[in-house]
Amino acid sequence: MGKRVLVIGQGGREHALIWKLKQSPQIDRLYAAPGNPGIAALAECINIQPERVEELLAWAKAEAIDLTIVGPEIPLMKGIVDKFTAAGLKIFGPSAAAARLEGSKIFAKNLFKKYHIPTARFEVFTEIDEACSYASSLLGNGSPVVIKADGLAAGKGVVVAANLEEAEQAIYSMMKDKSFGAAGEKVIIEEYLTGEEVSFFAVSDGKEFIPLISAQDHKQVFDNDQGPNTGGMGAYVNPPIFSRQLEEQVKKTVIQPVIDAMQAEGCPYKGVLYAGLMITSEGPKVLEFNARFGDPETQAVMPMIKGDILPLFEAAAGSNLKDYKIDVADGNCICVVLASGGYPGPYEKGLLISGLESLDTETMVFHAGTSLKEGKYYTNGGRVLSVVCCGADIKEARDKVYSEIEKISFEGMHYRSDIGSKALYGGRI
Ligand code: AMP
Ligand code: GLY
Repeated sequence: MGKRVLVIGQGGREHALIWKLKQSPQIDRLYAAPGNPGIAALAECINIQPERVEELLAWAKAEAIDLTIVGPEIPLMKGIVDKFTAAGLKIFGPSAAAARLEGSKIFAKNLFKKYHIPTARFEVFTEIDEACSYASSLLGNGSPVVIKADGLAAGKGVVVAANLEEAEQAIYSMMKDKSFGAAGEKVIIEEYLTGEEVSFFAVSDGKEFIPLISAQDHKQVFDNDQGPNTGGMGAYVNPPIFSRQLEEQVKKTVIQPVIDAMQAEGCPYKGVLYAGLMITSEGPKVLEFNARFGDPETQAVMPMIKGDILPLFEAAAGSNLKDYKIDVADGNCICVVLASGGYPGPYEKGLLISGLESLDTETMVFHAGTSLKEGKYYTNGGRVLSVVCCGADIKEARDKVYSEIEKISFEGMHYRSDIGSKALYGGRI
């Protein structure tokens, strides 16, 4: 009998996962909770939000779901994996204790320190005055300083402060005004690293790991990495800065040591291990770990994986990853996010999206914030759609994606026109 698989989440990342899973000959019924209008074309959408862990559990039990795959971080922190596992249901993702690698920056940084994993120099503070004076000492050498809230802060808990005034403002805002609630009771002050960022994805069963494909996200809203940070404006795979040699180094000095460390700490890490790396002149250093797939990186990674992906998730959920081999396509794949006017600030919703029907058949569109009314798609979020194209190399993929984007429009639509340019021109377009 075919398998029944549930994917939790509602973004472009989950749409890409479902697009890939849809190709599995082993799956009979594919569900998403809650999904989105793009996902609805491929899977049955269940109206339960990702944070409603008990309801998801009751539904998955009643429907005899064979495997659940968790997209976003919130249900992981809430212990969805522990609860499904205790109920005898197979689920892909880390336990709540293991997901602290993303959920508590202090847990992660202390682990890096204890196990000698390369990362930015840092200290943890619970007192405002001490935090300010350490920030001042790091600023002494002319470079900025980074202030991080300990807990999850919807991607906004990291401030790069150029001077003491900005650093103090961030520290007071997190620790005194509690701008991120309890997430900012403790802060990390750390050294500012320079270099190119790389997202490295591995899948682990708690002991072994399989590297997936690395990618480069583009976090700032405007071209040439200008403007405020967003959830990610686009990505491409196999960034040239991340050479084979660097990849081997990261596997040996970062990924395996973290997996061993988590095991030694009594919270083995199962699921996707997403290392956010800075490739500095002193070598790769860890900026952060995430306990889930990246968004938008997944939209560019999934089309590069050949064959059925279900056995990978099953092997990781069941502790037998050792002999699994992943088959990767040649060439490159690029994802460009189309965002609402004003994003990452306030934006309007409900604007008609036109042109999707004129795209070439091999172009992929992954929905993130859309709604569907009478057969027409409308904007319904900050990041609206990802447009994804593959090519023989990054240049071909990039030319293709930008010519496809010209066919799509909605009022206020904006996107970065330099996704992948670091791969081609080493930086500016
Ligand atoms: P994080 O959530 O820790 O990955 O931080 C979000 C973003 O802030 C990263 O992707 C970087 O762009 C930037 N960032 C974080 N830590 C540092 C650092 N120590 N030096 C430079 N940039 C950083
Ligand atoms: N691409 C950034 C993230 O998923 O956190």
